[in-house]
Amino acid sequence: MQWRIDRRVAGSYMTDKIYLAYHRASMMDEKLVSVQSPNSEQYVGPVDLSGYEYIDLPDIHDIADDACVDIFDVLKNRRTVRLFSKDYTMSFEDFCKFVQFSMGKSFENNHDWTYRTYPSGGSRYPVDIYVVPQRVEGLKEFEVYRLDQPNNRLYDMGRTAGKEEIKNATCATKYDYHEYMDSNLFIFMVSSFEKSTCKYGLLGYRLTFLEAGHIGENLSLVAERMGLASVPLGGFYERNINSFLGADKFNETTLYYYLVGGKR
Ligand SMILES: Cc1cc2nc3c(=O)[nH]c(=O)nc-3n(C[C@H](O)[C@H](O)[C@H](O)COP(=O)(O)O)c2cc1C
Repeated sequence: MQWRIDRRVAGSYMTDKIYLAYHRASMMDEKLVSVQSPNSEQYVGPVDLSGYEYIDLPDIHDIADDACVDIFDVLKNRRTVRLFSKDYTMSFEDFCKFVQFSMGKSFENNHDWTYRTYPSGGSRYPVDIYVVPQRVEGLKEFEVYRLDQPNNRLYDMGRTAGKEEIKNATCATKYDYHEYMDSNLFIFMVSSFEKSTCKYGLLGYRLTFLEAGHIGENLSLVAERMGLASVPLGGFYERNINSFLGADKFNETTLYYYLVGGKR
């Protein structure tokens, strides 16, 4: 049987322009300043990870940077590279370097508030990072890890994702369309929107996606700088990923997915 999908029904594709309704409702408007002004008193903090084991990561300022490379060259050369090497094993040192430069803590002010290598609306940091490694020295194969940037820690969430679960999480991997399964890092950006919406209301939803975009660009540029391949993925089965990460337990959902690994 052949499927016939007509995407022109009623002039739109399934959504019936729901996204426009949301976009309009979340627009900042001068007339609404009293209801839209940020509510800085509301704060939703990080989830409680006590009880989970963790690995200490080096502070970004203690990581040696070998050669000087011009950021203009990195920007010129960055590409989405879809061919990963099966034979490449990432050292723990390179893992730390990659993670800390693309997403780590870079600054701490004298009020104990920490900042990262990417910007965040109102520094609420609503995007959390889960990493599932394959062939990374010192890390368990396909274990679910979670970054705790303020403390330079990598938490072991006590669950394994399973290669099949990862494979079934995107149509590209499920149907062997690309060789993505050979990558070394499966990186998931997940959000608990409340960290941002409690302060900014509907705008917080937008700010969360903008932040994920910033992180994504960092991942691509640091991968390029370190000679690694990277692929940003927007098309994936969100519920499946939430469930194998255990993110649904924390009321989080996956926004963006990255593959990073050795080039073939
Ligand atoms: C938000 C976003 C989502 C993307 N989703 C996918 C995806 O699901 N699958 C894929 O193979 N590539 C995906 N890409 C990669 C693009 O196809 C790629 O960036 C584009 O072809 C331009 O090539 P370049 O990155 O080498 O400049 C995505 C890129 C972005 C920015």
